[in-house]
Amino acid sequence: DASDTEKGTYPHFMLKEIDEQPIVMRKIINEYQNENNELKLDTDIRSAMKAADRIYIIAAGTSYHAGLVGKEFLEKLAKIPVEVHVASEFSYNMPLLSENPLFVFISQSGETADSRSVLVKIKEMGYPALTITNVPGSTLSREADYTLNLYAGPEIAVASTKAYTAQIAVLAILAVDTANAKGIELDFDPMQELAIVANAMEVLTDQKEELEQLARDYFSTTRNAFFIGRSGDYNVSLEAALKLKEISYIQAEGFAGGELKHGTIALIEEGTPVIALATQKNVNYSIRGNVQEVVARGAKAMVISLKGLEEDDDAFVLPHVHELLTPLVSVIPMQLLAYYAALHRGCDVDKPRNLAKSVTVE
Ligand code: G6P
Repeated sequence: DASDTEKGTYPHFMLKEIDEQPIVMRKIINEYQNENNELKLDTDIRSAMKAADRIYIIAAGTSYHAGLVGKEFLEKLAKIPVEVHVASEFSYNMPLLSENPLFVFISQSGETADSRSVLVKIKEMGYPALTITNVPGSTLSREADYTLNLYAGPEIAVASTKAYTAQIAVLAILAVDTANAKGIELDFDPMQELAIVANAMEVLTDQKEELEQLARDYFSTTRNAFFIGRSGDYNVSLEAALKLKEISYIQAEGFAGGELKHGTIALIEEGTPVIALATQKNVNYSIRGNVQEVVARGAKAMVISLKGLEEDDDAFVLPHVHELLTPLVSVIPMQLLAYYAALHRGCDVDKPRNLAKSVTVE
């Protein structure tokens, strides 16, 4: 067994960290629950969330993508309007702020300079800040009013995996806790649903051979690849594209299914890989339509669907989880596809060229 900062029998940290995700889910369930199985969050955070009329999520890279998923939780469950901003852009184009904003910084390392510069600015303006981070003593944690820990353990590979899923899980818990504080009734038990997710993640991390084969078929020689999805799947397609480009250097983009016809579809050539996520019931029909459109133009499509929504030709079927939490499972095959693509293309999986784990300059 590998300790936190050693690879053990794993060839790469990234693979080890992908495999740790079910363990991290269970750790989060334990840490955010008291002995009566009630959510356990700092009461100050609860009050700050309740007092906010709008949440501004500030983050970079993969953490920004987790923020997009978190927006959905906070708006649907806790009924708070949320804006998600890329940290580096926020300062130049600061939106008109609401009367009682709360800033939520999402950062694995807690050291990202782009995010910190926003934190400094909004603290000068007198606004409250909550940092969600994997490193409790980090700069963003110390300089914010409140911190929520991710409990993911050290993440060493430059490409973030377990921090993304930990961020999404903690955001789901935060959203439900806020809903409870506001007296909003939900028929969604986050701990029960996250436990189901943890089991599903375990099933997925056991399907490496299948995913390695898919990576070989789709990504061995291609120059580019597109990920498409609608609604919650669109958020994950952005993260899937980032994973693939970061470590395999394949030019990859995530697109909203509905936007294809507005330009993107012009890029489809004979053999272009298009990976479509189909985990959302209400848009299943439309995303399937998109797949037909790209296939008709020569694309090599790979559909990854949720159990219950699957069709005969789908390349991969995900175990069923609550519809809100599908990003936690759909991202796992995306991470593994990127991993094997990079591996087979001879790339340095854990230390991709030109990238740093934590970027402490603006
Ligand atoms: C760097 C890393 C990315 C990460 C981003 C934000 O660019 O290479 O993997 O998502 O920083 O990092 P943070 O620590 O703030 O989540």
